[in-house]
Order: sequence, then C-alpha cells, then structure tokens
Amino acid sequence: MNSVRYDLVVLGGGPAGYVAAIRAAQLGMKVACIDENTRFGGTCLRVGCIPSKALLESSHLYEEAKHRFADHGLTMSGLQMDLSTMMKRKEKIVDTLTGGIDMLFKQRGVTPYRGRGKFRDIESIEVTGPEGTTLVQGDRFLVCVGSRPASLPGIEEDNDRIGNSTTALSFPDVPKRLVVIGGGYIGLEMGSVWNRLGSEVIVLEALDRILPGMDSELAQLAHRTFKKQGLDFRVNTMVASAKRDGDECVVEIRDGAPIRCDRVLLATGRVPTTSGIGLDIIGVPTDRRGFISVNEDFQTEVKHVYAMGDCIGGLMLAHKAMEEGIVCVERMAGIPSHMNYDVIPAIIYTHPEISSVGKTEEQLKESGIDYRKGVSPFGANGRARTLGETEGRVKILADRKTDRVLGVHIIGVRAGDLIAEAATAMEFGASSEDIARTCHAHPTLAEAMHEAALAVDDRAIHSA
Ligand code: NAI
Repeated sequence: MNSVRYDLVVLGGGPAGYVAAIRAAQLGMKVACIDENTRFGGTCLRVGCIPSKALLESSHLYEEAKHRFADHGLTMSGLQMDLSTMMKRKEKIVDTLTGGIDMLFKQRGVTPYRGRGKFRDIESIEVTGPEGTTLVQGDRFLVCVGSRPASLPGIEEDNDRIGNSTTALSFPDVPKRLVVIGGGYIGLEMGSVWNRLGSEVIVLEALDRILPGMDSELAQLAHRTFKKQGLDFRVNTMVASAKRDGDECVVEIRDGAPIRCDRVLLATGRVPTTSGIGLDIIGVPTDRRGFISVNEDFQTEVKHVYAMGDCIGGLMLAHKAMEEGIVCVERMAGIPSHMNYDVIPAIIYTHPEISSVGKTEEQLKESGIDYRKGVSPFGANGRARTLGETEGRVKILADRKTDRVLGVHIIGVRAGDLIAEAATAMEFGASSEDIARTCHAHPTLAEAMHEAALAVDDRAIHSA
C-alpha cells in the first residue's frame, strides 16, 4: 500500500476542512485533505448553502416577475418557469465553486485524496477510493467530518417522495402539496423556494413558534410575513409518522387529522457524522449524540488529533466552521488567534432575509442584563422605498449602563449583508453611540442600522 507522511492530515473537505487545509499550507505545513466525495466543499457547497441560495434567487426572480414587475410599469406576457434550466444553473454554480477548491489546493500545494478515510492507528488514515486504498500518515490530524440531516422515528425516508434537504434541492417537478417537518432554517428556506414555484407548502413545527433560538419578536414578524406569502404554518404540531402511499404520502399527526401530500421534506436538524471513521480505534470519544469534545485549541483527548466544525457541535454554520479552521491551524503554528463565539452572525436567506448576531432579548432578560433597544423600520429608509422593500426592521440591543452593543437582529431586504456591520462593530466592542456617530452613506439600506443606533438613545431622525 502506498503511504505518504504529512505535517497535517485533514479528514473532511467541507468549509472547516478545506479552509483549514489552505491556511495550514499558507503557514508552511505539508498538508493532505481527504474527502469521500469527488467534489470538495462539503455539504455547504454541494448540497447546502450554495445550491439552496441559487434556487432561492431563481424562485425569487420568478415571484418578482409574476407579482412585482408591474409596480415598475413593466408588463410581460408568457412568463414561464423551466425547472430543469433552474436546476442546471444551480449545478453549474456548484461545479464552478467546487472546481475552485481544486484550483486553490493546487496553488497552495494541498494534496487532495478522494475516498473514505478511516483511522487505522494514531498516525495513519486509510483512504479507500475509486483508485484503491492509500495510507496517509501524519504528525497531526484534523477531523472535520461534518453532519448529516437527522432522521426521525416513523418517517420513512425514501429520498424521493419523503426526503431531506438534499432531496428537496432536486425535486424533478414542482410538488402540488409539500409538507415540511420543522420550522427552522431549512424549513423556511426550502419551503419558500417551492412555495414561490407554485407548491402549497405546509410547515409542521413541534414547538409553539417557528425559528426557535432566534429573537422571538423577529420570529413572530417572520411568521406573519411568510404566512402572508402563502406558507401554512402549523405550530404545536407533533408528527407521528410519514409514509409513502403510491405517488402520494401520508403524514400522521399526533392529535390531528392526517395530511396527504405529494412530497415530504424532513428538516428537524442535523447530527454529526463521526461514526465509522475509526475514532474508537485511536481512542477519541464522542458523546451520546456523536459530537467530539475539544479544548480551546480544538484538541481532542488524543493531543495530536484535532476536531472542528459541525462534528464538535455548537452552531452548525459554515462560517463558524471556516473560522474554527483558521483559528485551529494558526494556534498549531503558535499564532495566538482565538475564536469569539459571542459574535457569530446567523442568516436565513428567505425574502425578506432574517439575520442576527449576539444576544436575543430573551437571553438578555434571562441573564438579568439591563438593556436599551433601538428599532428602525425599513419603511422609513429611502433606499428601501426605492427598492419597494419596506417590510421589516433593524433592532439594536445595547447595555443600559455601558451602551455596548449586545445584539442586533434584522428582518428585511439584504439583512444578511447588513449584519456584517453589526458583527464588525461588536467584534471591536462598539457602543451604539459609535454606530450612531459613524457617517453612513445616503441613500443606503445601511442607514437603517444608523437609525436604529440613534433610536437606542431615542434620537432617531426618520422615525419616531
Ligand atoms: P433547525 O434546527 O434550524 O430547525 C429544526 C426545527 O424542527 C426546529 O424548529 C424544531 O423545533 C423542529 N422539530 C424538531 N423535531 C420536530 C418534530 N418531530 N416535528 C416537528 N418539528 C420538529 O434545523 P434545520 O432547519 O433542519 O437545519 C439544520 C441546520 O442546518 C441548522 O442547524 C442550521 O444551522 C443549518 N442551516 C443553516 C442555513 C443558513 O445558515 N442559512 C440554512 C440551512 C441550514
């Protein structure tokens, strides 16, 4: 069996792994990166963030053309939707980006291995791929094997009529009626895509609200907004089972009538994919749910084996994983970088978008932290008016005594881009006064952030 030795062997080529591999190579390490898929980029690039955003954009344009162009005096006839072109565009974007990683690896000297990796002992991973089995040896290992959609007892997934987010990214036709189990990130994003393309979408959520964990005021606004767009939310709804019945599916609800539909999307969270990679062989333990625990250097109980990204738990977000990748290898190289888990933005790419960074109002209340709140509605923003996007608001929460910004929550057009200013401000320990004293260009959506900062001190100019 061939065998090569590296300074660092990265198992998993998703956002955590490929970013860590590139950064480690920049720092002078001899690096290998192993992934069982032919395309590097992980869930995010292949079947997650990127393809879903491609479909969100296409379906949004379709919706705009159907319902909003006329507001601009633009009329058209014969608008048609060609799902296969939409899917091809999505695939092309994925191909380009995954191909980009191959190129970056080449430029930086990272050696890619395609195949399923499994620890053979504490200094080698066996990679079984299309070209046979290779032994990859290393001084250090980085486990970034990610996560997969959680399954649920009673839900008989066939990856066709009853499937997960990957299935829902490639439906061959527009379902007449789609039942989404779970009112979280995926439920709202993929529910929006198929709702815009013409499906009747029913979202079943076990809790009494959608988007648990998000600021509840924002979640309520989101509920109202997406209900208006046609999503049929049913909260406090526990699903007992989902079964295929010919070309249809039957979803049984506890304490409710069954729902018949033509497709089911299961979106009730994700679980780590840490089994079958030989962690037991090298003595790296996982918890009950399969997560690997690490210290602040991302070291597991076996000191030269590190782990990060979705498989160590916390927020399952690509950018959190990427950041961890950089911090981990920099610390290996003796650079004192650190991970600030208090400032990680989260975004839901619906229309309008929802974004959030820092503490929610509920969290501040629970911790007994006294805060002031500044809100600015997009209705009072000139640029939002010109875009015809007046729905939503920016909310800033600042410490009552120190004025330090503790949380920012936005629902509105381009909320995902606007949150970057809040994250930067918070990373620098800014006060709301710092944002209020910063000149924001006019007319821009960013002025809503400025106005919300002014509103913390009850001196907003464009809203009372
Ligand atoms: P999620 O954790 O966002 O939401 C799952 C929802 O399902 C929750 O509201 C939960 O209460 C509900 N639920 C759980 N069991 C249920 C049951 N038996 N019946 C009905 N409802 C039930 O998980 P989701 O949407 O599957 O996303 C998985 C992960 O992927 C998230 O943690 C998120 O971090 C990530 N993601 C991020 C995106 C982004 O950054 N824009 C987009 C998509 C996913």
